Amino acid sequence: MTKLAIDGGPPVRTGAFPTWPVWGDEEIQGLTEVIKSGQWGRLKGTKAASFEQKFADLHQAKHAVCVNSGTTALRIALAASDIEPGSEVIVPAYTFIASATAVIDAGCIPVFVDIDPGTYNIDAAEAAAAVRDRTAALMPVHFGGRPADMDAVMGLAKENGLKVVEDACQAWGASWKGRPVGAIGDAGCFSFQSSKNITSGEGGIILTNDDVIAKMAQSHHNCGRSEDGQWYEHFFFGGNTRMTEFQAAVLLAQLARFEDLQAKRRENYAYLRANLSGIDGIEPLADDDRITLHACHLFIFRYKKDFFQGKAKDSFLTGLRKEGIPASPGYSIPLYKQPVMLNKAFGPRGKRVDLPVDYSAVYCPETEKACYEEAIWLTQNMLLGTRQDMDDIVNAIRKIQNNADQLP
Ligand SMILES: Cc1ncc(COP(=O)(O)O)c(C=O)c1O
Repeated sequence: MTKLAIDGGPPVRTGAFPTWPVWGDEEIQGLTEVIKSGQWGRLKGTKAASFEQKFADLHQAKHAVCVNSGTTALRIALAASDIEPGSEVIVPAYTFIASATAVIDAGCIPVFVDIDPGTYNIDAAEAAAAVRDRTAALMPVHFGGRPADMDAVMGLAKENGLKVVEDACQAWGASWKGRPVGAIGDAGCFSFQSSKNITSGEGGIILTNDDVIAKMAQSHHNCGRSEDGQWYEHFFFGGNTRMTEFQAAVLLAQLARFEDLQAKRRENYAYLRANLSGIDGIEPLADDDRITLHACHLFIFRYKKDFFQGKAKDSFLTGLRKEGIPASPGYSIPLYKQPVMLNKAFGPRGKRVDLPVDYSAVYCPETEKACYEEAIWLTQNMLLGTRQDMDDIVNAIRKIQNNADQLP
């Protein structure tokens, strides 16, 4: 009888998957140049400006503004897009907390809607049903690097006069019908935090094709200054959320190796998809035909316990990890159930701020199913592995399925 590793048997693998970040002499050289130049901040430096240009070009966007994180990018993009404080922004309930807290930080109210179970992206019909007088914007999240249905999102926005701020924090280089995401809506935001496919440890960027949004974002991230004003003249509300030249130097090097790494991720993604799809109860998320490039930040599949002797997601994950596959449960709590949301702890020291919304009344069944029962994530660094690494993932899952009675 085959023994699962959780039961003391030999694991499918003991080796590690590729580590992240991937870096080389280029990052070191860029950092050295910055040190030696004496221009460590972006004001008189060249690196952030150069990265903005390159990143904008890659996404066919007219403008780019580098900032210190994806969260900051979202907050500034909302403010710069002229979304009135007090209005509502529709956000999927299954995303990173920043998609919602950025809305609150911009003085607005996040309204959570469910995800499409096939893609884990915003369910456009649910979003349409949530639109009302106070709605000002939609925030589609290109979750895991898979573009959201931008035809539906842009159609809904047009019909109702809404702004669209894309959370493309996991979707560098992804495209929908040939158009790079992040530059389809009014503004788009990306993250360069440590886990991301392009990283400088922390960092973010705002893309837009709108001259006014660009000007306002530029000012906001630079203490409300204006290009033609004096240094100590502040026209708008803002702060210092500028990126450093060190971050930009690393990002330039990361961007140069991005396409090669993406090609590897895409190859492994397709291979895994094909091989996992053949296992009953393992359902990789669907890729819409209109997606022309997937950013492959996460490989996500739905786990159906009925095909694993009724064993819960946590048991399956524990078993899989013991076999040497470091899979993740992903988000474990829907955003509307996060303590900060339920307690409306948006004030100083978590003081309650009574926004006119009751998150305890929200229920998004597909989000709950993803959090509690079905979503399993494999992270982008694993997609940089060898064919054997991918086979190990498939073999470990098959082994567990055939011996599911041994799971706790
Ligand atoms: C979907 C999503 N939105 C927003 C963010 C926020 O980005 P950052 O961590 O750079 O602030 C992240 C990053 O973790 C994210 O994954």
